[in-house]
Amino acid sequence: MVEGRSLRFMSTPSRRILILVGHPDPAPERFCRALAEAYAQGALTGGHEVRRADIGTMDIPLLESQAAFQVDDVTRLIRELRADILWADHLVLVFPLWLGGVPAKLKAALEQVFRGGFGFEVGPKGWNSKLSGRSARMVLTMGMPSAIFRLVFGSHGLKAVTQGIFMLAGVKPTRASIVGGIEAIGAGGRSRWLERMADLGAAAS
Ligand SMILES: Cc1cc2nc3c(=O)[nH]c(=O)nc-3n(C[C@H](O)[C@H](O)[C@H](O)COP(=O)(O)O)c2cc1C
Repeated sequence: MVEGRSLRFMSTPSRRILILVGHPDPAPERFCRALAEAYAQGALTGGHEVRRADIGTMDIPLLESQAAFQVDDVTRLIRELRADILWADHLVLVFPLWLGGVPAKLKAALEQVFRGGFGFEVGPKGWNSKLSGRSARMVLTMGMPSAIFRLVFGSHGLKAVTQGIFMLAGVKPTRASIVGGIEAIGAGGRSRWLERMADLGAAAS
């Protein structure tokens, strides 16, 4: 589900929210970080519990073989990230679209997190989704207008995560905020997106 306009929400029961910034550049001026922070502040104001993780500050090894993917041998940072995912009942993933998909460092982090059957696996009794009961919101920034991303590109960079990973893990619903035309929307447009993030955080949506 993709939403673009500002909403005001009723108060909602307290939820445990993990906000993961998937921007490889740790520079504080990246708009992804402002969006994540606005969501976090809204969530805290709404009475929700918030944990944050930022792959821009993490050292993440590359996964290089199927054999490695099948083994649950991860670093301390990945174990901590997994613990935060298991703690949360709502996952917020904020990232820029890079070459049509998630930045390589974020993909590397997801490959590490989901190795060893962490989120899902296929066994003798069939498919086993292990993160059921959790919802998610994807927040993507990009240079192109959001309509082009959806209509021309079929939101493929988004679906790679929502369908290729979260759906398999049983995470649903997965909603999306697509912040398109990032270089063109100006200060007013950015400010409206920050307000919208705060609203979504307050609603834990
Ligand atoms: C390596 C790289 C690849 C990019 N690829 C795309 C792309 O495929 N489509 C697009 O619309 N914008 C693309 N962009 C623009 C970024 O999405 C945009 O700079 C970013 O969303 C801005 O958010 P930020 O301030 O958090 O970095 C790319 C930018 C970089 C640096």
